[in-house]
Amino acid sequence: MCLLLVLLLCVLMSLPKGWAAETDPVYVALNDSVLLNIPGYPNAEKLQVTWKDGNGILMGKFKNSSSYKQRTVCECELFRNGSLYLNRLDTVGNETYKVEVFEQSGKSITTASLLVTVIEKVSAPRLNSSCSPDGLALIGCEIQGGTDPQYSWLENGVNLSSSWNVSGNWISGFAPVPVNISCCVWNPVSEEWSQLVSVFCPIPVSVPTLNVSCQRDGSARILCWTDSGTDPVFSWSLNGTDKQGSPLNQSWSQISIVPPPAEGNILCVVSNNISLERNTMNFSCPVPVSDPVLEVSCLTNGSALVSCKVESGTNPFYSLIHNGKTVYENSSSPLVNVSLPLSSPGNISCSVRNRFSTKETGVQGRYCPVAGGVAVGRIMTMAVFVLYSSLLGSMLWTLLRMRRDEGEETIYINNIVAQEGFSI
Ligand SMILES: *[C@@H]1O[C@H](CO)[C@@H](O)[C@H](O)[C@H]1NC(C)=O
Ligand SMILES: *[C@@H]1O[C@H](CO)[C@@H](O)[C@H](O)[C@H]1NC(C)=O
Ligand SMILES: *[C@@H]1O[C@H](CO)[C@@H](O)[C@H](O)[C@H]1NC(C)=O
Ligand SMILES: *[C@@H]1O[C@H](CO)[C@@H](O)[C@H](O)[C@H]1NC(C)=O
Ligand SMILES: *[C@@H]1O[C@H](CO)[C@@H](O)[C@H](O)[C@H]1NC(C)=O
Ligand SMILES: *[C@@H]1O[C@H](CO)[C@@H](O)[C@H](O)[C@H]1NC(C)=O
Ligand SMILES: *[C@@H]1O[C@H](CO)[C@@H](O)[C@H](O)[C@H]1NC(C)=O
Ligand SMILES: *[C@@H]1O[C@H](CO)[C@@H](O)[C@H](O)[C@H]1NC(C)=O
Ligand SMILES: *[C@@H]1O[C@H](CO)[C@@H](O)[C@H](O)[C@H]1NC(C)=O
Ligand SMILES: *[C@@H]1O[C@H](CO)[C@@H](O)[C@H](O)[C@H]1NC(C)=O
Ligand SMILES: *[C@@H]1O[C@H](CO)[C@@H](O)[C@H](O)[C@H]1NC(C)=O
Ligand SMILES: *[C@@H]1O[C@H](CO)[C@@H](O)[C@H](O)[C@H]1NC(C)=O
Repeated sequence: MCLLLVLLLCVLMSLPKGWAAETDPVYVALNDSVLLNIPGYPNAEKLQVTWKDGNGILMGKFKNSSSYKQRTVCECELFRNGSLYLNRLDTVGNETYKVEVFEQSGKSITTASLLVTVIEKVSAPRLNSSCSPDGLALIGCEIQGGTDPQYSWLENGVNLSSSWNVSGNWISGFAPVPVNISCCVWNPVSEEWSQLVSVFCPIPVSVPTLNVSCQRDGSARILCWTDSGTDPVFSWSLNGTDKQGSPLNQSWSQISIVPPPAEGNILCVVSNNISLERNTMNFSCPVPVSDPVLEVSCLTNGSALVSCKVESGTNPFYSLIHNGKTVYENSSSPLVNVSLPLSSPGNISCSVRNRFSTKETGVQGRYCPVAGGVAVGRIMTMAVFVLYSSLLGSMLWTLLRMRRDEGEETIYINNIVAQEGFSI
């Protein structure tokens, strides 16, 4: 069995060299001519040569360079050296031509098959391009005719960058700035270039992002930016009124400052030639505290009545400091008539703070003298004073009732009493 195979191989290998030689296909454009040379035999003048077409029909034959004949129907020419010249190939398709070479004795020396592929030339391509709504550029390279066209592309004169998707005679990609695109169409028999086309597809703007940050001074710093979009144009409105923004570091962001009291509704609109997007936001920034208004009045017993409040400020916290000691802290409502002993000069200050600011107002060396000379220190005098006071107290009550009946407020009566106390 093995022996048989080896024998068979030997037989095959002993066949004449060049027998049934296959060559690379020869491509010819439709209506063009082709010269077919005999592979391995550039000059067969002294030999006999026959050419047959794909159907095995004899096309030409010669015995020597001066005696040959060829079929008249064939638009072809036999040369002295054995080459066959085909004038015009008018059918698209493959045809295998066969050539056989003999010695003058008639002994065959070689045969060869030549595959001739007739194809149509490509026509000059036309480029057309369009932009999709999402900003993608679609570019087609179109031809009228041509067999098996292959496409290649140039972007600004060099190979396409890798950001393009190439699929046959189509490419897609982003062209946010103008690029010059051209295409080349080719096949084995022809090559054609398109004209240069400038492609530009603006990218639509994305929905803008708003960021409000409240500043220490109570103003709002409002940022608006887009993540994408060619040449975005910004416009603003605050509570429905147009407002001017200013560009930040890049064309895709803008800033707007709203002075205190910074609250309301902000709208940012971003647009370009092909798109428009908007975003809106309600905001409210804390107002910094204003300077506290501090009021100190005296009572007859040497105490002071302290009141403190601020005109403006979000969520204020009040503290009262007396001679460096905090006597009241973190009151979220204004201080009204807080009583402090002030029989010797003292320093009083009121501090108000909120998330954004702290303000303080103070009085120094304030003194509320005690009526009737507690300073003398005589018990008698004290007793008299107590007596006076209780007497005054009962008078006061009567007075108070009367005044209340008249609809007046207690606070005023207290003031009057204090005044009267001094005059006693
Ligand atoms: C080939 O020749 C035929 C006949 O003359 C003609 O009709 C045809 O347009 C030609 N084709 C090409 C591609 O030249
Ligand atoms: C055969 O002769 C033709 C015509 O003279 C010539 O064009 C061709 O190149 C020759 N072929 C070879 C293989 O030299
Ligand atoms: C070519 O062949 C013809 C016919 O066989 C013969 O008459 C002629 O002498 C030959 N010419 C040459 C140059 O061999
Ligand atoms: C013609 O020949 C070419 C080249 O060898 C081959 O690619 C193609 O498929 C052939 N076409 C036909 C129709 O046989
Ligand atoms: C190219 O032009 C043709 C005809 O005008 C049109 O049908 C096609 O959609 C265009 N292609 C592109 C990508 O614009
Ligand atoms: C595109 O081509 C035009 C005309 O040839 C040229 O003026 C322009 O600079 C080119 N643009 C680029 C980006 O190469
Ligand atoms: C362009 O592309 C071709 C084919 O892909 C490649 O052979 C050539 O080297 C490329 N040229 C440059 C400059 O990258
Ligand atoms: C290219 O094609 C891939 C896969 O289809 C896709 O993910 C990508 O987004 C495309 N890129 C462009 C620029 O079209
Ligand atoms: C807004 O910007 C500030 C700083 O500028 C940042 O701390 C904050 O996280 C941002 N807020 C949002 C919602 O992006
Ligand atoms: C532009 O400003 C924003 C906000 O301050 C910042 O987040 C961004 O990184 C800046 N971009 C550049 C390119 O400087
Ligand atoms: C916007 O309107 C709100 C509610 O009407 C109002 O409180 C706010 O003060 C307004 N803001 C500005 C800056 O006018
Ligand atoms: C976009 O608008 C600008 C001017 O507003 C104009 O110069 C440009 O040609 C426009 N581009 C497109 C693609 O419409």
